[in-house]
Amino acid sequence: MKTHIAEKLEQLLEQMGVKEKVETWIEKPKHPDMGDFAFPCFRLARTLKQAPNQIAEKLVQDFSIEGINRAVAVGGYVNFYLDIPTFSAKILSRILHEGPQFGDQTIGHGEKITIDLSSPNIAKPFSMGHLRSTVIGNAIANIVEKVGYKPVRINHIGDWGTQFGKLITAYKKWGDEEQVKRSPIVELHKLYVYFHEQAELNEDLNEEARHWFRKLEDGDQEATELWKWFRAVSLDAFSLVYDKMNISFDSYNGEAFYNDKMDAVINKLSEAKLLEESDGAMVVRLEDNLPPCLIQKRDGATLYATRDLAAAFYRKDQYSFAKSLYVVGNEQSLHFKQLKAVLKKLNAKWADDLVHISFGMMLKDSKKMSTRKGKVVLLEEVLDKSVEMAAEAIEKKNPSLENKESVAQLVGVGAVMFHDLKVFRKNDVHFELEEMLRFEGETGPYVQYAHARACSLVRNVQGSEVESAAAANTCFSSFGEEERMIVFQLSEFEGVITEAFTEWDPSKIAKYAVDLAQHFNHYYAHTNILKEKDPTTKIQQLLLIKSIIITLKESLRLLGIAAPEKM
Ligand code: ARG
Repeated sequence: MKTHIAEKLEQLLEQMGVKEKVETWIEKPKHPDMGDFAFPCFRLARTLKQAPNQIAEKLVQDFSIEGINRAVAVGGYVNFYLDIPTFSAKILSRILHEGPQFGDQTIGHGEKITIDLSSPNIAKPFSMGHLRSTVIGNAIANIVEKVGYKPVRINHIGDWGTQFGKLITAYKKWGDEEQVKRSPIVELHKLYVYFHEQAELNEDLNEEARHWFRKLEDGDQEATELWKWFRAVSLDAFSLVYDKMNISFDSYNGEAFYNDKMDAVINKLSEAKLLEESDGAMVVRLEDNLPPCLIQKRDGATLYATRDLAAAFYRKDQYSFAKSLYVVGNEQSLHFKQLKAVLKKLNAKWADDLVHISFGMMLKDSKKMSTRKGKVVLLEEVLDKSVEMAAEAIEKKNPSLENKESVAQLVGVGAVMFHDLKVFRKNDVHFELEEMLRFEGETGPYVQYAHARACSLVRNVQGSEVESAAAANTCFSSFGEEERMIVFQLSEFEGVITEAFTEWDPSKIAKYAVDLAQHFNHYYAHTNILKEKDPTTKIQQLLLIKSIIITLKESLRLLGIAAPEKM
């Protein structure tokens, strides 16, 4: 529509003696009363030697195109009002025809994008930072798929590193098999914390831990078996969380997977003469004020960065990605800068396709929610608590609901996910369960509830043939101001997805969903939906509600959140 308006304006302006491309000048009016599009005339004043308002008046006189009902000159702007019936027919027939594919795009041409997400560390509780990575990464994977890429979800598990030398040492000294079996994460984490306390008193422990890690890297049987056990029980615990959130991965190749792939990286670096010795360790020096990247420790042990270098090559090789995303907290931004810089020094032309998608912290009472020093917040418990609260709310609002438990699951988990996603990812999130679960305001339950309410409106209306026939040739003659906002908003869905993709920003979709839910609720409160006697009006309303349902559900799906039909 914007393009059509611009073409007409350009034609009129040319008659007035100016040649300009004006499509990008067209704005969205600040207030809906001021129309659907606005064209500011200020920039033309000097060239045309006329006041902006005079120009606007002139443009309005001769403006007429299909789809625009009226054009009004106000304060130096031309405001355009869509012709609701024509516009509605266009948008709604598309939505009803395309269903969940509404908003699909072909930007990606089927190319692959790898997404490194979640990536918790074994033998440690699943932290809030990992929750953010999981939820944001999963939404971004859905979004890239929506615009035509093939997402590859990779869980780069933190299952290697010197800390496993510490853990083995601690387990051998103080561990109890039965206790670890009973609650692996809590127990292993306790051992790890205890190791640090003891190591402060007794330096020898650190030496012992280094020794065990070396054994592990050398494939020692006892070390390997313990490590495998720690890994297996940890992954079991993590899957409980993933199952609750209905999130799955294409690969669980974590840090340990790259053990046999690091020599190749070290060789590459040394062939390119990039490795330098520093205090017995091997480093790559970097420019642009970046500190050197540590590749190998004095005792030959490799590091996080070495494994990420190997992983970058492996992924390029395996998936030939168009982009390789890393959804990891702000605090690792230096690491990813170094990673890219080293790859560039190795002449990897694709280094610029690596994107660190960073995010802020999860705060509780303005402090970081941390897993250190025994202050363990188990995510699983958080999700369970949220589900419990959702169940209580359902019990109060709708005690006769069928499948109460499974709905409470979807609402409770969805609330936590939505709360994270509605905030622009670089900002910190304040963790507040009560807030997340409110049925009003910008929450997951609010959007889910609007969706369920819309579903309930159309549930008992029969006749899908009537609908499809109507969708094809209804002119939506009954639509006016009340419907205008909603239809306009539906028409913006595709653009919102594109923005969410280009800015790696799922919060755009979360905000969109809240807005659409609000408009629907307003409509619901002010219109006699489907109670009209006139059958044409009724079918037109029905088609609008169906379109809202499709769009709300798809918005939530992109965020990784389910939309129950009854709540
Ligand atoms: N396990 C790491 C951590 O918890 C995150 C890994 C992110 N991915 C990566 N390829 N470095 O900090």
